[in-house]
Amino acid sequence: MDSSRPSERPWTERPFPGDRPLRIGALLSGKGRGTNLQALIDSCAEGRISGEIAVVISTTPGAPALERAHRHGIPSRTFPGKSYADGEALDDAILACLNDHRVDLICLAGYMRKAGQRLCEAYRWRMMNIHPGLIPAFCGQGLYGGKVHAAVLEYGAKVSGVTVHFATEEYDAGPIILQKCVPVAEDDTPETLAARILPVEHAAYSEAVQLFAEGRLEVLDGRRVRILPKRG
Ligand code: GRF
Repeated sequence: MDSSRPSERPWTERPFPGDRPLRIGALLSGKGRGTNLQALIDSCAEGRISGEIAVVISTTPGAPALERAHRHGIPSRTFPGKSYADGEALDDAILACLNDHRVDLICLAGYMRKAGQRLCEAYRWRMMNIHPGLIPAFCGQGLYGGKVHAAVLEYGAKVSGVTVHFATEEYDAGPIILQKCVPVAEDDTPETLAARILPVEHAAYSEAVQLFAEGRLEVLDGRRVRILPKRG
């Protein structure tokens, strides 16, 4: 097998050519409500994303996102984290599933684990994450979901927002694709701030995924993302 030719490599190691519908694998821990997944499903159905959700993978049985996948006839698999000896074994099982479903792009949609080395290497610059804050502020291990909004309010920040970035071996540290600012109100609670940010997450994630689907994202020096002009 000539692994230098993309067509000879395992599916999970092939660069996305950008000339066919994108096949997305959603990966989540299942502790959320699955609204980011739903937004991606809706964007594909309504043509805002030129692609489809090929598989939904959860590390928690019975996750709400799995019900959303079922309602839309999307294949789903559960890999309970505690069923695997270590993170590498879990990543290998997930990689095999992604390969079986010919996934081009992984979208983390509430994935509370660190993506392992093998997953990151196989999907280098082809795995995205969404963070409900403006990285590099209020991010990193332990700062996710409502904890981000609470930290923003505690600090007295006047602006928060959303970051879509390429996921790497470190929490919330990969090259930033898109950021959107959201104002913080004087009387905000973590809940009211979350409610203002969530729809912005949904729109930003779909926008970033479509840029990838159009082959318009270029990572420079492993740090900065350049958005290329629309083709044609
Ligand atoms: C979202 O706040 C997202 O920013 C973060 O995890 C949460 C998932 O929410 N990555 P949902 O399950 O998609 O509603």
